[in-house]
Amino acid sequence: MDIRRAQAQDRAVVLALINAIDPDDYIPYCWDEWVADYENGIPLVAWFDGSLLGLAHVQFLSQRVAWLQALRVAPTARRLGVGTALTEACLRSAARARRHIARLLIDIDNRASLSLTAKAGFTQIAEWLRLEKSLVASPSAPLMRSPLPEHLPQLVKLARQHGLDLWHTDWQTYDLDIEALQVSLRKGSLQVLADKPTATMLDIVYDEDDQEYKTYNPVGDPGATLELLQAMEQAAYQQGLPRVAVLLAADSPFVPHLQQLGYEFARVQTADGKYIKDGVTIWEYDLTTLLAAETN
Ligand SMILES: CC(C)(COP(=O)(O)OP(=O)(O)OC[C@H]1O[C@@H](n2cnc3c(N)ncnc32)[C@H](O)[C@@H]1OP(=O)(O)O)[C@@H](O)C(=O)NCCC(=O)NCCS
Repeated sequence: MDIRRAQAQDRAVVLALINAIDPDDYIPYCWDEWVADYENGIPLVAWFDGSLLGLAHVQFLSQRVAWLQALRVAPTARRLGVGTALTEACLRSAARARRHIARLLIDIDNRASLSLTAKAGFTQIAEWLRLEKSLVASPSAPLMRSPLPEHLPQLVKLARQHGLDLWHTDWQTYDLDIEALQVSLRKGSLQVLADKPTATMLDIVYDEDDQEYKTYNPVGDPGATLELLQAMEQAAYQQGLPRVAVLLAADSPFVPHLQQLGYEFARVQTADGKYIKDGVTIWEYDLTTLLAAETN
C-alpha cells in the first residue's frame, strides 16, 4: 500500500469514494482547499494496485496541535489495517511538521473508529454529551455580540478559572488560548453578552446539516451564561431554526441549569440496537517520541 500526500489528479477518485461512503459528507466542500494548502495541513491518500483504499487529513491548529480528520476507508477494504495505517501516517506527518500533540473527535456511537483510535495509542481526554432543545417560541433575551479583541485575555482567564483548557470551534478542538479565541472571533462564532462582555462566552456555530445552532462547554457566571444561551435560542428562532444544542461534560454544573431551561439529553441508537446518550469524544496522542524519531 502506498500512502502519500494527495494531489490534484486524485480528486475525481477521492470524491467518488467519499460519495460512495456518504453522499452527505462534508469532505467534498474542503478537499480542493486541503490539496492546495501546503502550509496548514496535509491530505493523505492510500492506494494499492491502482485502487484508492482510503484518505485522511491532518490540519495544523497551532504550532503545538495537529487535528486529524476525514479518515475514510473504502467499504471493500475495511478491517485490513488501512484505517490504522492512515492514522499512523497522519501521526508521522504531524511529527515531521514538529507538532507535539495530535487530537481528533469521534462520535460517541462510532464503535469502529473508537476501537481503532484506542488501539492506535490515543487517550480519550473528553466526552461531551449533547443536550438539545426544540424551539417553539421566541423568548425575550438580552443581546449578544462578538467581543472586542481587548476582551480576549480576560475571557481566557475566565475559562482557566473554571478549569476549561480546551476550546471547540468549527468542529475542531484547540488548546484554549488567545490564538484559539481569535480563530472564533475571525469566524464570527465567538459571542458574549452585549452588556457584560467578559462575564461569559460561547462559540456558536450554525450546523447546516442539523439545521441548528450548536455550542460547546459553557463557561462563566451561571446567570450570565444562561442569558447568553437564551440569546442564542432567540437568534436561532428568528432564523427559523427548529432547535439548538449544547455539548458538555456529563458532570458540568450547567447540566441541571440547562434541563431547567427545557434542554434534554439526545439519544442515539448504537449498532447493537441500544440507545445511549448522544455526544462526541475527544482523543489525544502525544507525539514526543515520534517527534524525536523524525528529528534524528
Ligand atoms: C472507521 C474506519 C476508518 C476503520 O477503517 P479500517 O481500515 O476498517 O480499520 P482497521 O482495519 O485499521 O481496524 C483497526 C481496528 O479498528 C477496529 N474496527 C475497525 N472496524 C470495526 C468495526 N466495523 N467494528 C468494530 N471494530 C472495528 C478494530 O478494533 C480493528 O482491529 P481488528 O480488525 O484487529 O479487530 C472505517 O470503518 C470507515 O471508513 N468508516 C466510515 C467513516 C468513519 O467513521 N471514519 C472515522 C470518523 S472519526
